[in-house]
Amino acid sequence: MSAARFGPAAPLRGQLRPPPDKSISHRAALLGAMAEGLTRIEGYLDSADTRASLEAASRLGAEVRELPGEGDRLDLEIQGVGLRGARPAAIDVGNAGTLLRILPGWLAGQGQGEWTLDGDASIRRRPVDRVAEPLRAMGAEIGCRDERLPPIRVRGSKLRGAEHELPIASAQVKSCLLLAGMLADGRTTVQEPAPSRDHTERMLAAAGAPLEREGETIAVTTCERLEAGEISVPGDFSSAAFPVVGALLVPGSEVELTGVGLNQTRIGLLSILARMGVPMGADGDAPGLGLAVDRIGDAGPEPFGTLWARHTELRGAEVGGEEIPLAIDELPLVGLLACFAEGETVVSNASELRRKESDRIGAVVKGLRALGAEIEARPDGFAVRGRGELRGGRLDSRGDHRLAMLGAVAGLSSREGVEVEGFEAVAVSYPAFERDLRSLAGGR
Ligand code: S3P
Repeated sequence: MSAARFGPAAPLRGQLRPPPDKSISHRAALLGAMAEGLTRIEGYLDSADTRASLEAASRLGAEVRELPGEGDRLDLEIQGVGLRGARPAAIDVGNAGTLLRILPGWLAGQGQGEWTLDGDASIRRRPVDRVAEPLRAMGAEIGCRDERLPPIRVRGSKLRGAEHELPIASAQVKSCLLLAGMLADGRTTVQEPAPSRDHTERMLAAAGAPLEREGETIAVTTCERLEAGEISVPGDFSSAAFPVVGALLVPGSEVELTGVGLNQTRIGLLSILARMGVPMGADGDAPGLGLAVDRIGDAGPEPFGTLWARHTELRGAEVGGEEIPLAIDELPLVGLLACFAEGETVVSNASELRRKESDRIGAVVKGLRALGAEIEARPDGFAVRGRGELRGGRLDSRGDHRLAMLGAVAGLSSREGVEVEGFEAVAVSYPAFERDLRSLAGGR
């Protein structure tokens, strides 16, 4: 296990292009494998998690060719096996929960063949009954350890369409069921209690899937073939959120993040920041604003643009309800922001955090408390009393990439700095994180 120390920083300044989006990269690899003919992917995330999806695509029979890329961005060509051509295989998903939960939807409808999906120690603690049960309702043959945990065994069978009402808003579960729906007889619908990220719907529709949104419900019917053509992956808002929060917290900071994905179902953090008192504008010309967003264009079906962030005074806020799925991976950062805010911040309706790469309620509360925060756990979130500062100390990533990055940003904004144990976990989503953050912090 490696440790890294992040000292109290000089102001964060400069420009950064965050790494490609992890969620979209996973989906692009799977779509490339499912599609007919050649799919070209521009700017695929080169990280541990998304390498697992490429490896899975190869094992399922797709031909994956890497073209010369740059840094953490891969350009790829994938020769697909078609929607019904997946080869039997044992798949190692590593730490990738998205791959673990989405892929069974495709495999379950193959009509024949057998697959196993397994991963690291953290993956083995992540519930998969949330996909196994609705897939079984469509006629899938699927088994898991203790009825709810990986490894997963899937036997390809004939599926029938079903109406799913999800008990939790989960893009992974929704995506899994939409893939199964394309292979099932008849119509499949998925209704979520609140909208979650919609990258799968956008990408499948662009590839020719018979998919429709009817209010809160997404409907899909049997699909013969998909053709993806070209997919361009925008920067990951969830990765960009770390330097953005660093800039908001460290006095004198001003950073610019380019090429960032701005899909509405991903940027819930922005409305939380507005309620925490961050003055916001629509472009970078607005002087003195805490945060400005400029939507520049679209990368295929996904919008992207530039973000500017500068140091701002914060106040506490209530965070909950429908905005939780839209900011689910940024809630640990809300915990850190809240330490610097005036007054109390309460995050509720977020019990899903307990089922992420670590128990992110327990990990954030213990981690930030060890750095001097006044924070307490709630069954479905946490409450923080802001003190306008953080002392610093040691934070254990627990093998969770977002905890490791949280520790680093906490270090830059703290009085005494933070030693992050298990810092290597950042390789899951943002391998160049340390280099990028230190470049903004003037090498510290
Ligand atoms: C993801 C969906 C979210 C998110 C995860 C990635 C995805 O999980 O937390 O990091 O790519 O679909 P849930 O769908 O389980 O909420």
